Amino acid sequence: MAGSDSVTPFGGAGPRDLRGRVLRDLRISVMDRCNFRCPYCMPRETFHDKYRFLGSHERLSFDEIVRLARLFVRLGVHKLRLTGGEPLLRPNLTDLIGDLTAIAGIEDIALTTNGALLGKHAFELRAAGLQRITVSLDSLDPEVFTRLSGGFGGLEDVLSGIEHARRAGLDPIKVNTVIQRGVNDHTALDLVERFRGTGVIVRFIEYMDVGNRNHWQPGMVLPSKELVARINARWPLTPLGRAYHGEVADRYRFTDGRGEVGFISSVTQPFCGGCTRARLSSDGVLYTCLFATHGTPLRDKLRSGASDDELLDVLRRVWVERSDSYSERRQTHLAVSERKVEMFYIGG
Ligand code: GTP
Ligand code: 5AD
Ligand code: SF4
Ligand code: SF4
Repeated sequence: MAGSDSVTPFGGAGPRDLRGRVLRDLRISVMDRCNFRCPYCMPRETFHDKYRFLGSHERLSFDEIVRLARLFVRLGVHKLRLTGGEPLLRPNLTDLIGDLTAIAGIEDIALTTNGALLGKHAFELRAAGLQRITVSLDSLDPEVFTRLSGGFGGLEDVLSGIEHARRAGLDPIKVNTVIQRGVNDHTALDLVERFRGTGVIVRFIEYMDVGNRNHWQPGMVLPSKELVARINARWPLTPLGRAYHGEVADRYRFTDGRGEVGFISSVTQPFCGGCTRARLSSDGVLYTCLFATHGTPLRDKLRSGASDDELLDVLRRVWVERSDSYSERRQTHLAVSERKVEMFYIGG
């Protein structure tokens, strides 16, 4: 039954959206700033010294985030992902992780970082209860890396961050690599070679038309099928099933037993049908799609004395009225041109 509360495939009750999808994951952006300037996300021309980022009072406080997370658990959420901008720029993030891990019903908390500050924070993140981590890393070629981080990031810092994460016991460590044809696809196999056999799981993401600034063209996408074939020719792959309902990555294991690699193919093989994700921006706007035009502001409600029941009503209503399926629609209307929320603001 769509658009209402019902028993979910996981056994729990929870609202279903207009396509019958349950709510399972909440992705929380804790910081709109970033120490990188990846051209496809925060191009330097726009995000310069005078760009007005949120002030600290405009961001949700940790108490507000924790309160919302508890309410989302009552609607079915059991997985949280902390994102940015760059989440490790948020002061005292470990306090938030400690509070979130203590919420009954949260089974999995992950964090997506560009890795530059991970060396400094890996041990305290683990000590606060974080179990695993995802590091964005688009190339091991120093020149390509510098271009893709806008000249801000240090490749060595990211690699050392991954090593610190490993030593701190964060497990699994995943590396997310966005592939743009003609920009970094020639360096994809280097990443596979580097991390094969180390336990680090590399996942390649098809370049998407997120936000309004990245000048996306279909020709910039390298279909995952092509990349699978390139990797398979060098290191034979065997397909694995999805690890859980709604997983975005298609997984393969190396036939020689040296680990696995994943492909996130939202352009050529959209996965909207299993989309159980909601996104919260750092100033408390709730979005039900990565490509949304509008969100539902929650901060003023939180700050003007709304009760838990009132907030729950709003959250439930947003979910049951949801019909998002942008990536599926992109396949049939290539010129989908609505104004979209920006990636740095809701974290991908
Ligand atoms: P695991 O829990 O480790 O499986 O990862 P995840 O499902 O939380 O995914 P992750 O945040 O690592 O996603 C990697 C990338 O996939 C994101 O940065 C996005 O680029 C893309 N992605 C994730 N969720 C969605 C989604 O709902 N829609 C689309 N179009 N892309 C998504
Ligand atoms: N297409 C695909 N992935 C993207 N990311 C940022 N912009 C895009 C895009 N246009 C990725 C980042 C990071 C995560 C937060 O989202 O590289 O891995
Ligand atoms: Fe920062 Fe990630 Fe955006 Fe790059 S993609 S600018 S690291 S938020
Ligand atoms: Fe979900 Fe929107 Fe991504 Fe489709 S495009 S999977 S609806 S976030």
